[in-house]
Amino acid sequence: MLSASSPFSLVLFGASGHLAQLKLYPALFFLWQKKRLPEQCAIIGFARSQMDDEQFRKLVEQSIRTHVIEPNEQVLKSFLQHFYYQQGRYDTEADFTALNGRLGKLERGWKDAVRLAYYSVPPEVFATISENLCKGGVHHHSIPFRCIVEKPVGHNLKGFEEIKKMLLRCFSEEEIYLLDHYLGKEAVRNVYYLRFANPILERLFENSLISHVEITAMEDVGIQGRAGYFEQTGMFRDMFQSHLLMVMSLLTMRLQQNGSIREGRLHALSQIYLPHAADLNDIVLQGQYAPGNVRGEEVRGYTEEEGIDAASRTNTFAALHLMSRSARWEGVPFYLRSGKRLDKKETRISIQFQTPHPVGKDSAPNRLHIILQGEAGMRFELQTKLGGTEPAFRPLVLSDPLVCVGDCLPEHGLLILEAIHGVRQWFPSFEEVHTAWRLIDPIQSHLAKADTPLYPYAAGSRGPEEMDEWIARDSLPWLHL
Ligand code: BG6
Repeated sequence: MLSASSPFSLVLFGASGHLAQLKLYPALFFLWQKKRLPEQCAIIGFARSQMDDEQFRKLVEQSIRTHVIEPNEQVLKSFLQHFYYQQGRYDTEADFTALNGRLGKLERGWKDAVRLAYYSVPPEVFATISENLCKGGVHHHSIPFRCIVEKPVGHNLKGFEEIKKMLLRCFSEEEIYLLDHYLGKEAVRNVYYLRFANPILERLFENSLISHVEITAMEDVGIQGRAGYFEQTGMFRDMFQSHLLMVMSLLTMRLQQNGSIREGRLHALSQIYLPHAADLNDIVLQGQYAPGNVRGEEVRGYTEEEGIDAASRTNTFAALHLMSRSARWEGVPFYLRSGKRLDKKETRISIQFQTPHPVGKDSAPNRLHIILQGEAGMRFELQTKLGGTEPAFRPLVLSDPLVCVGDCLPEHGLLILEAIHGVRQWFPSFEEVHTAWRLIDPIQSHLAKADTPLYPYAAGSRGPEEMDEWIARDSLPWLHL
C-alpha cells in the first residue's frame, strides 16, 4: 500500500485557484484522513497576495468544508496545521530565497525529505517560477525534487517545446512529472488491466471483429468560472489533447515486453492519425452551448457567461474522427467527443462489434461499454435468440458496476503519492505530450482560420443535433447506453 512514508514539503503555485480548491485540498485531506501522509509534511502556498498562515488555512478549510461531506473536526484541525503561506512574486529571486529559508526551517530535523513544486498556474509563468526555484535554492541537488506540471502543457506544439526546453534547463527529466489526472483514475487505469489481465477480452479487441469505437466524455458542468482559461483553451486543448487521447492510447496500446506502460502508450499514440487530413472539416465537429436547463436549473449560454465575449467562437462541444495505423486497429474508426453543459456526467468507451454472421443477420450488433465515470460499470450486450420458430433476437446484458473496491484514492491524491515515491508510469512522458500536440495542432490551426461551423446546442441537451448527421455520413450511429 503506497503511503508517503518519508517527510515531504510541497510548494503549491496556484494555491487559491480552481483546481487547488476543487481537487487538490480535498485529495490531500483524504490522504491525511486515511493516514497516508507522514506527520512530517508541509504544504506551502506561494503567491503574490498578502496572506498569513492563518488566512491560508481558512481558505483550505473552506475548500474542505465545501467539497468533503461532514469532515471529522479533529482530523481537519490536525490537517490544517500542515499548511503554510509564503508571500512572494514569481519573478523575484529574493522571494524564492526566502521560500527556501522557510522550507529549511519547516524541514529541520527531517530525514530523507522530498521536495515537490506543484504548478497549477498558466504555462506562461512556468519559466519564471522554474528559474527562480533553482536560483533561490529551493531546487538543489542534495534534496530529491519533483516538479509536477498540470495540463495543458503549452498552448500548441511550439509552446510545449519551449516549455519543455525551459523545464529541462532547470530540472532533470526524472524530476519532471507531467500530470494528467485521468491517468490517476482507477477506472481509466483499469482499461489496461481489463485488457491485459483478461486474454479472452483482449482477443476481441481487433479490427477483424470491431466495427467502430466511441470515446465520450460528457459533462453537465459549464466552465465553472474559468472564463479566461477556457477562452484560450476550448475543448480540443482542454479534454482531447490530454484525457481522451490517453484513454484511446490505453485502449489501443500493445503490452510491452519490458512492461513499460509509458512506452506502450507512446507507441499507441504515435499510431493515431487524422483521416481525410486534406479536409479537416470532414473529421471535426464543434458546438457551443446556448441557454437551457440542466437538471432542472435554468442556465446561461456560453457567450453570456461572465468574462466571455458575446461574439466568442470558442467551442464547448467537439467531436473528432481518428484512426490508428496499428495492425490490430487498422480500419477501425474511432469517434471521440466531449462537451460541457450536457444532460449528464458520463465518461465512456463503447465498442461496437461487426455485423454478425448471416445466422444472426436480423440481430442488432453486439456491444461492449466500459463506463469510466457516471454510473461506472461494464456492460456487454450479446445478441441472443428469443423463443419462437423464427430467429429473432434481444441483447443478453452482462453488466457489473465498476465501483472502486479496495484501497481507492482520489486521482490527484494517488498521483501525488506516486510522485513522492518517484513512480512515473502513470505520468505522460514528454514524448507522449509531444505526440498528442502533433495531432491536435493541425485541428486548432484549421479552426483558427477556417469558417468551420459552430453549432449551437441547448444547455442540458445531448449536444448539437448535427452530430447525428455527422457520424451517419460514415453509416454509423452514436452508441448510446
Ligand atoms: C479538466 C478540465 O482537466 O478535466 C476541465 O480542465 C474538466 O474542464 C475536467 O471539467 C474533467 O475532469 P473530471 O475528472 O471531472 O472528468
